[in-house]
Amino acid sequence: MSRPARSIHGEWSSRWAFILAATGSAVGLGNIWKFPYIAGENGGGAFVLVYLGCIALIGLPVMMAEVLIGRRGRQNPVNTLKSLSTEEKAPASWTLLGWMGLLAGFIILSYYSVIAGQAMAYVFRAFSGVFTGVTADGANSIHQSLTGDPERLLAWHTLFMVFTMTVVARGVKSGLEKLVSFIMPALFIMLIILVGYAANTGEYFSQAASFLFTPDFSKLTEEAVLVAMGHAFFTLSLGMGAIMVYGSYLKKETSITTMSISISIADTIVALLAGMAIFPLVFANGMSPDAGFSLLFVTLPIAFGHMAGGQLFGGLFFILLVFAAWSSAISLIEPAVAWLVENKQISRRRASVTIGFAAWLLGLFTVFSFNIGENWLLFGMTMFGLLDYLTTNIMLPLGGLLTIIFAGWVMAKESTKDELAIRLPIFYHTWRILVRYISPIAIIIVFLNKIGLVG
Ligand code: PHE
Repeated sequence: MSRPARSIHGEWSSRWAFILAATGSAVGLGNIWKFPYIAGENGGGAFVLVYLGCIALIGLPVMMAEVLIGRRGRQNPVNTLKSLSTEEKAPASWTLLGWMGLLAGFIILSYYSVIAGQAMAYVFRAFSGVFTGVTADGANSIHQSLTGDPERLLAWHTLFMVFTMTVVARGVKSGLEKLVSFIMPALFIMLIILVGYAANTGEYFSQAASFLFTPDFSKLTEEAVLVAMGHAFFTLSLGMGAIMVYGSYLKKETSITTMSISISIADTIVALLAGMAIFPLVFANGMSPDAGFSLLFVTLPIAFGHMAGGQLFGGLFFILLVFAAWSSAISLIEPAVAWLVENKQISRRRASVTIGFAAWLLGLFTVFSFNIGENWLLFGMTMFGLLDYLTTNIMLPLGGLLTIIFAGWVMAKESTKDELAIRLPIFYHTWRILVRYISPIAIIIVFLNKIGLVG
């Protein structure tokens, strides 16, 4: 079957542009907000170790599989899976994998935007100096006054969604590539400054290091293992077609392996730095590491509130966080937008507004789950908790599992070999063993273990 021309489909201007965009997608709220709080909730060290293992053994091979499938199919995930399954003489039902990805991205965006909205609100709080000299209790109540007020939360959620739709409507090339090349290094420097500040807490810094890096396996529950694996997918933007669609804009000559390794390493370093910036403050202020989703919004204001120039640094930090969230949000919506543009012949602008508006509506559940709807529970979770659980712990790992089965078992060896074009045969073989056996078995064991069938 001949593949469609690349005409409506974009292409990155360079290899560097892809690396930046994919890193921009990977590095986001997941690293700076979510990783520290779930590590705290799940007991630290052992959880972190499992998470790192999942990045290396599952995340990296899945990322390579997604990029290669995307680049070979050259369209949005649904169409790509359709044309590749025809090409590989596999059932057309593989397109369902593409559909599940579109849906997962859309649901994640709905709550991602609400949290990113909080980060936006914090830009103004930080610059205005309300954090100066703040105590742990003060920081807590500042955060609660924001989340407890549905109107404010809604306003910020709306603003963030408009930001996201605007960039996606313009096409990824012109705006995003440039933005990300400046945000990522700046964010990195800010994190180092924060870790430097946290290092001044002396004993608490070492307490934080041992909390994060000394594994105590007695604290590791089946649930924690599932959360660690789900987060590996979330943080690397895998299992829902974001990296696949970005891969589809990639030129043939680029090495998928080198790029995937660099993206995964950068993403992991940012998460670990965020942990080392936040936990020393948690301990130094007598707070509990398992405070949950508000951890970042409570600890960092304390740091900025006591730091020379904290007003300025704090404001800048939250700006960078918003940008990092922004470059991730775009990739959450891109697969669905690309599908609309490529199949329904509507403009990028209309497609972005349609999907963005629908995600905004669904986001209302998350807005309300911090205030008027905090008692609307389903399976013991708030609406936000439920949407997050469903996507991160179920849909993304399942999407990732099907992606590697497709790359390892459905696609012919020649196809993946040709697309990956790895020079040293041993590397290709290692990847193939990982996607055919090790990673799928690992994902299945974690799932079965969680529902109590093994272990
Ligand atoms: N990886 C992003 C983060 O860590 C979130 C994300 C998930 C983006 C899935 C795209 C796809 O914040």
